[in-house]
Amino acid sequence: MGGLSEKTLNYQHLALIYDAIMGDTEGVLRYANMLQDNLQGHHILDLACGTGDLTVVLRDLGYQLTGLDISEQMLDVAKSKDKDGNIRYVCGDMLNLHLDMIFDSIVCANDSVNYCSSLDQLNKLFEGVNRHLINGGVFVFDYHQSSRFIEFEEPFDEEGMVGDVGYGWHIESEFPILRHTITIYGSGYPVTETHEQFIFELGELQRLLEDNGFRWEIIDSSKYDDLYLDEKWMIKAIKEREI
Ligand SMILES: C[S@@+](CC[C@H](N)C(=O)[O-])C[C@H]1O[C@@H](n2cnc3c(N)ncnc32)[C@H](O)[C@@H]1O
Repeated sequence: MGGLSEKTLNYQHLALIYDAIMGDTEGVLRYANMLQDNLQGHHILDLACGTGDLTVVLRDLGYQLTGLDISEQMLDVAKSKDKDGNIRYVCGDMLNLHLDMIFDSIVCANDSVNYCSSLDQLNKLFEGVNRHLINGGVFVFDYHQSSRFIEFEEPFDEEGMVGDVGYGWHIESEFPILRHTITIYGSGYPVTETHEQFIFELGELQRLLEDNGFRWEIIDSSKYDDLYLDEKWMIKAIKEREI
């Protein structure tokens, strides 16, 4: 899979401390519970799987998992958790998806779809997902709501330590971007990663899903302890036709 962008370098350093900062065992179980109610079939692709916490939980629930991520460093952490070695991990770009199999369901969790920086990129993602799903298969993902611009009107700053590695996390919003600037201080550091997440209108997403052969519904968060209520849309797209 070619065409990896400069953004590939994102998560190169953050991978080192990602779980310590973002790890949320309870949240992963709630997410998996929501997925169990919405996924179809057995063969699941976890797109942008990151450090694989959700991938492992889904595998433990009995699904057959493939995890794909663009960051080798995030995948290294994910692989270290797969003690049974029965998850297939692939390093690749979800915007240029060409795997040798198709899936019953595809998941893309925790605002990974927000890394699509244009409607054209979203279109490429949905096109690739369509190609890798059986007819009637589902694609479940979450997506930042535009209310996040209000939430981060005032920039947010956090500093902390993970072992002997220090970090600073700055979040600011500049429509349509939610920008995370993460500085990591360790031996041989500091390094800074800038992650830009894009928030397009829900209506645009829905139109692109329909153009790419999906019908869609919003998953009711209230059934899942208000999973991401008022922060992210939980979207279920069902493949109705090839494109
Ligand atoms: C916020 S993390 C979420 C990781 C994981 N899904 C989770 O629930 O913890 C976003 C992930 O998206 C990955 N990512 C971003 N752009 C990508 C792309 N174009 N193709 C594949 N992975 C990508 C990053 O490397 C990172 O691991």
